[in-house]
Amino acid sequence: MKVAVLGYGTVGVGVYGMLANAAGLEQGPVLVRPGKENEPFKVSSLAAILEDPTVGAVAEVMGGVEPAFTYACAAMRAGKHFVTSNKALVAAKGVELNRLAREQGVAFLFSAACGGAVPFLHNLALARESDTILSLGGILNGTTNYMLDAMQRLGLDYADVLADAQRLGYAEADPTADVSGLDALRKIMLACAVAYDLLPTEGLLNEGIESITAADVAHFQARGYTCRLVVSGGRSADGGVYAYVEPVLLRAGSPECSVLENYNMARYEGQCAGSIVLMGQGAGRWPTASAVLRDLSGILRGERSMFSAACAEGAADNGGSVHGYYVRLPAALAGALPAESVEKEGGIARLITAPMSVKAMHEAVKALRAQGAAVFFAAIKE
Ligand code: HSE
Repeated sequence: MKVAVLGYGTVGVGVYGMLANAAGLEQGPVLVRPGKENEPFKVSSLAAILEDPTVGAVAEVMGGVEPAFTYACAAMRAGKHFVTSNKALVAAKGVELNRLAREQGVAFLFSAACGGAVPFLHNLALARESDTILSLGGILNGTTNYMLDAMQRLGLDYADVLADAQRLGYAEADPTADVSGLDALRKIMLACAVAYDLLPTEGLLNEGIESITAADVAHFQARGYTCRLVVSGGRSADGGVYAYVEPVLLRAGSPECSVLENYNMARYEGQCAGSIVLMGQGAGRWPTASAVLRDLSGILRGERSMFSAACAEGAADNGGSVHGYYVRLPAALAGALPAESVEKEGGIARLITAPMSVKAMHEAVKALRAQGAAVFFAAIKE
């Protein structure tokens, strides 16, 4: 099967390169911006790709919702299988694309959009056929894991480790989505859609690592904690779905603490299977390209979809997930949260809260920040 590639950035170069040696797959044209067609395989006309009957599949690795969505619809309508690494696209338009792919009888696969090289969605889609998925989670953003790991093990500052993550090709073009937790949130949205037929688009909560400081990291480290940005999803007690992202403080020995550099650790718990943990590189050229290639090879074996026909958009409910938090905030505001312990020094308070719901915590911090307060918080899951 000849594969056209849309985009020739970090991942596009990897996909095109891997196609040269993949069984049953062939390098097709690569779509680039007008004026960038400096090699024979590069073209700037999508129409030429879609009208080429020898192209069987399109791999989109450009990122962003538009024009990727328009191109995806056009490719599916032209009868081409569609594979993407684009989580923003699938989080925003996945239900619509799933419907269109089914109408057109083409594949719509996006392993690379969640976990990079880690075969998370693929295994989840298989597991949900025969088991009940109780919960989902783990570390699904390579950039922030790389940053938190380097801040802790190498004692580096936030700005330096972010620049390194960008240079290494882990971060998005605009790293705001990585450090704000939005990138990880999009990934847990996709995992929930695969596991529960519900793509949560409302009621979601994400806290990133933008407000963490070297002093916070030193404080956790001195108390035996490691900080990681962790995604959580699952069935709530009332049958709904919860989905959120927040920094978590973990004790040495927790599996997440062994996730270093740009690695991801995806986890699901099946009622019968128990806990399944998958680890590997979650970002970067070759790990991400390997997942795109895995999907393309899957098409040759008859794989067509990750979302079921019933998958629909809906709301997440994070009111029922409850745990304690570490919070660093101005000392004058320490009374704003239900604290079990408080340490104050130099105008700063570091407190451990009583157990509270994820929704209540995220809303409380939003209100404090609206008053101009500098706040960092992380869940404590012992
Ligand atoms: N920026 C993303 C990350 C790339 O750091 O995980 C892979 O999705």
